[in-house]
Amino acid sequence: MNKLRLYTKVVLLFLSRKLVTAKDIGQSYSQVSNSYTDRFLSTMHRYNDEMIMELANNLNKDQNSNQDKYRDALKVLDLAAGTGYNSSTLSKIFPTAELTLVDISTAMLNIAEKHLQQNAIPATFVAEDMLSILKSSAAETFDIVICAWALKYQSPLQIIRHCHRVLRPGGFLSVIVNKKNTLPQVAKIYPKLLERHTDKISKLMLPLPNPKNLAVFDNWFLKNSFSKVVSKEGSHDFTFNTSRELVDFVTSTGALAGFDVMLDLRHPAVQSDMIQLMQKNHLTTASHRYIYGIYKKN
Ligand SMILES: C[S@@+](CC[C@H](N)C(=O)[O-])C[C@H]1O[C@@H](n2cnc3c(N)ncnc32)[C@H](O)[C@@H]1O
Repeated sequence: MNKLRLYTKVVLLFLSRKLVTAKDIGQSYSQVSNSYTDRFLSTMHRYNDEMIMELANNLNKDQNSNQDKYRDALKVLDLAAGTGYNSSTLSKIFPTAELTLVDISTAMLNIAEKHLQQNAIPATFVAEDMLSILKSSAAETFDIVICAWALKYQSPLQIIRHCHRVLRPGGFLSVIVNKKNTLPQVAKIYPKLLERHTDKISKLMLPLPNPKNLAVFDNWFLKNSFSKVVSKEGSHDFTFNTSRELVDFVTSTGALAGFDVMLDLRHPAVQSDMIQLMQKNHLTTASHRYIYGIYKKN
């Protein structure tokens, strides 16, 4: 009976196009902007770093063999830049790089701006949707485009196609994403939570277009005229003592951005049921499965 009520609601929301928007997702991130760095990035940045080091090594090699191509300052576009970690790391390696940081959440971008200013890193900040900024950017403008933990919030293929257009010939696109089967613990209980709180669902969150595996991910770039430099997959477990801590973690990191708009996961009754469902299933771990890759414009 509960399942039928949920399916009916989902169909009605879909037909009336009451869908979670890019702006809603930005607002989800604005809500966690003060905890994002400490709770998520302070651990996961090691994978950003791994990708950025690969990128820097390949770029250095390219600079050494094509000095003419790199006479001007390096231009970097940081898509869904968040609190600015990737730009700030890149600027330590390439201090003269011209950085443009784009994010749909003004709260995340404000933190990035403060952080870069404190470290005297000049940059341009744009509060906008990443696909719109790509569409309005001139062709062959950037040497590097980086997009970390955010490709799923827009159509990946459209983003990749426009990245190809805005990159200079031989430019690099560097992307880290979650895999489709990331956070299986949440996937296990979320449908039950929706069933219990169908009346509170206000909008429909469509499934995120994360890649199923490395081959699918590579193919997104290869079919858009990029060559693969390197790609890799892995997993990181966040383990807690209690299910309550796990729920606190997934609702304060942006991991459920958008899903917390479909159903307000901070509502006391919803949160309490979420903890109870996690406890019932003996869940105290969040497994982040990810893929990253560096691709070069042909
Ligand atoms: C998980 S955070 C990643 C932040 C940063 N790239 C990092 O590595 O720490 C995801 C970011 O994507 C941003 N975002 C989500 N949808 C977006 C969109 N359509 N356009 C631009 N930014 C978006 C969010 O506001 C958030 O700052």
